[in-house]
Amino acid sequence: MENIVLKTILDRRTIRFYKDEQISDEQLSAILEAAVWAPSGRNGQPCHIRVLQDKKALEALNVDFKNKVGWDTPAYTNWNISPVYQNAPTLIFLFAEGNSAMDGGIMTENICIAAKSMGLGTCIIASVGGLMNEPEGNVWKKRMNIPEDYKFLIAIAVGYPDEDPAPKPRAEGRVEIIKELAL
Ligand SMILES: Cc1cc2nc3c(=O)[nH]c(=O)nc-3n(C[C@H](O)[C@H](O)[C@H](O)COP(=O)(O)O)c2cc1C
Repeated sequence: MENIVLKTILDRRTIRFYKDEQISDEQLSAILEAAVWAPSGRNGQPCHIRVLQDKKALEALNVDFKNKVGWDTPAYTNWNISPVYQNAPTLIFLFAEGNSAMDGGIMTENICIAAKSMGLGTCIIASVGGLMNEPEGNVWKKRMNIPEDYKFLIAIAVGYPDEDPAPKPRAEGRVEIIKELAL
């Protein structure tokens, strides 16, 4: 029998071209429920989620980002044709008090797999940190009701895919199963 969870994990791709159509509130709630149910170290639940669906604000974020890192800086893939949010209609931000990169990463994958399971595409975007974790990012934290001393962990673009990219091959030789270890 086909394992739909494994298939969803294996079929997910980073999507950098999106249709100009917003995801539904039901889809967003399901994604956010998957996010908050992510495990966290000592059940600390450090990640705070903000979802931005305001196109004008996303465009303004892109301008601030490019003014900070440079308009011709290849700080992220497709830098020359796409804004930092990859033209996605929804951008999810993860913030945390202190260094919670691992918890943020685990929540990120829940978001990506939940989105994929509903036919949606995602792009994980670390580059936004080039703005968000600099003094120029404080105004954005304030606008999104995030304390200045919280760290931006990652952003995830979500929307209907407008491309079907080929899988990027994974490097071999990174896994070893040890059934008996010489001691
Ligand atoms: C921690 C992390 C940060 C990433 N940051 C960016 C980014 O800033 N911009 C971008 O376009 N893609 C970003 N990506 C997407 C990766 O480039 C992508 O996952 C990788 O090339 C593998 O492709 P796949 O997701 O289709 O398997 C990021 C992915 C991860 C896991």
